[in-house]
Amino acid sequence: MKALQITQYGVISESLAIKTIAKPSLQDKDVLIAVKAASLNPIDYKIVGGYLKEMIALKLPATIAYDVSGVIVEKGAAVSNFEIGDEVYARVPQEQMGTVAEFVAVNSEVIALKPTNISFEEASSLPLAGLTAIQALERVGIKKDDRVLIHAGSGGVGSFAIQYAKHKGAIVYTTTSAKNVDWVKALGADRVIDYTSENYKEVANNLDIVFDTLGGDYTLDAFEIIKEGGKVSSIAGSAPDEETAQMMGMTNYQLPEQLAALIQKKSAVYKLTWMQPNGEQLGLIKSLVEAETI
Ligand SMILES: NC(=O)c1ccc[n+]([C@@H]2O[C@H](COP(=O)([O-])OP(=O)(O)OC[C@H]3O[C@@H](n4cnc5c(N)ncnc54)[C@H](OP(=O)(O)O)[C@@H]3O)[C@@H](O)[C@H]2O)c1
Repeated sequence: MKALQITQYGVISESLAIKTIAKPSLQDKDVLIAVKAASLNPIDYKIVGGYLKEMIALKLPATIAYDVSGVIVEKGAAVSNFEIGDEVYARVPQEQMGTVAEFVAVNSEVIALKPTNISFEEASSLPLAGLTAIQALERVGIKKDDRVLIHAGSGGVGSFAIQYAKHKGAIVYTTTSAKNVDWVKALGADRVIDYTSENYKEVANNLDIVFDTLGGDYTLDAFEIIKEGGKVSSIAGSAPDEETAQMMGMTNYQLPEQLAALIQKKSAVYKLTWMQPNGEQLGLIKSLVEAETI
């Protein structure tokens, strides 16, 4: 089969090639998906650039990308919840990375039936971004009437997060550049902040939750605008919380001093989520998309 492979770490124009490789073989719990569409996320270019080498050790060449939609054409002996011919979508687990290919083998526990009211291309754009938004917002217990700032509301994660937060009954502030203000408003945000002309810290403060999708100073500055006891949920910061550090196998981990001091000063909750594939949550996304909530 043909697949788009990362051949070396470096600039994208020199590091990818379409190659002919063997069709993946199936474990008992796997299905083989004939790929209709695959989508790329920021993590894919970060991997090609070599920025995540220490966290994600790849044996090159390796087929690129995690998001996929397609049709099941084979299944392993232990797969009972899906049938050949099912139209499905998934964010594949790390060890099965490689969705820009004609076929991909995926553990059936992390797939779901694709929403019936959208195309394969649209479906393939949802898993990684949608799962990240849900996991990061649920980790800080988002609920009705929470005042939430979602950074980068026009991004893959942010655009999903706005709609999910509104679905949960939250009051949503979001940042974006001028060109995206109108469509981010159309997604349902209550207050759209054009970061090129407004200071978001003056508009959004005393918040219950900041969803930090930008990292760097945005992570630290979030503590200025949450209320006492508020929550900062990051997906782009550099410091994992203790639970995530443990999940990543980091032993004797301690939060950086500056971050720990900010958490203590505001009696805040801080989480850095590293999204996990999840078939059940993809099922939830399917129902939200079919209800046109997303
Ligand atoms: N931890 C995890 O598991 C996880 C999972 C998924 C993604 N991520 C990370 O989360 C980040 C976002 O991912 P994504 O898929 O949403 O990326 P994306 O689709 O590329 O969106 C990025 C958005 O950032 C906006 N932006 C840039 N500078 C901004 C600023 N100063 N203020 C507000 N918005 C700004 C841009 O919008 P404008 O054009 O409007 O400026 C753009 O739409 C990436 O760094 C990604 O690697 C982490």
